[in-house]
Amino acid sequence: MNIQIITLFPEMFTGVLGNSMLWKAADRGIVEYSFLNLRDFGLGPRKTVDDTPYGGGDGMLLRVDILVAAVEAAKAVDPGATVILPTPRGETFKQSTAKATAASGQGIILICPRYEGYDERITKWVDKQYSIGNYVLTGGELPAMIIIDSVVRLLPGVLGGENSTEIESFQQDDQNIEFPQYTRPEEFQDMKVPEVLLSGNHAEIAKWRDSESHKAAK
Ligand code: 6GU
Repeated sequence: MNIQIITLFPEMFTGVLGNSMLWKAADRGIVEYSFLNLRDFGLGPRKTVDDTPYGGGDGMLLRVDILVAAVEAAKAVDPGATVILPTPRGETFKQSTAKATAASGQGIILICPRYEGYDERITKWVDKQYSIGNYVLTGGELPAMIIIDSVVRLLPGVLGGENSTEIESFQQDDQNIEFPQYTRPEEFQDMKVPEVLLSGNHAEIAKWRDSESHKAAK
């Protein structure tokens, strides 16, 4: 899967994509990450990418012509890619969205907005607009990383046990929480591992895990 990221801050991604499973996925050739620095598409000697909003208001908006130039450059590399715009105005990104994206077999192009936002006309070049929850962030980079993480871990060969992506939280959207787990020591500061897990009774363990998985942690 080809993942292209359009951003003014590619350095923000290095820690996340350069470690653990997201890095391994790339190392194994399952996924390829590349960056288009929006600044490279900027206008004039100052490489301007933004301007003030029509109608007035605070802050600056990313210009549609700059954004389109970057999207078209990414599309030239991967014409079939799905263009994703992280925005608090989008539909909520869920586990089912991650699954559908991973299963699509298509690459993705992520546009990371900054400043106070973007010119709405960019949405004509966008396939999907996603929010990652009901709070406001300073830009699209963190949402993009979250989308990447949730999608890449579902690609075949990224996680070890194929089981582990199935038996887990949010298998069905909006319900089902992962069951609690324990490892050694068996007792820690008077806290014991639940007896059933030491019983060796696999049917009882499965029953306990199923019942615990429906309880939300407080
Ligand atoms: Cl996708 N972007 C920003 N800036 N804030 C958000 C968001 C996205 N999703 C939730 N909050």
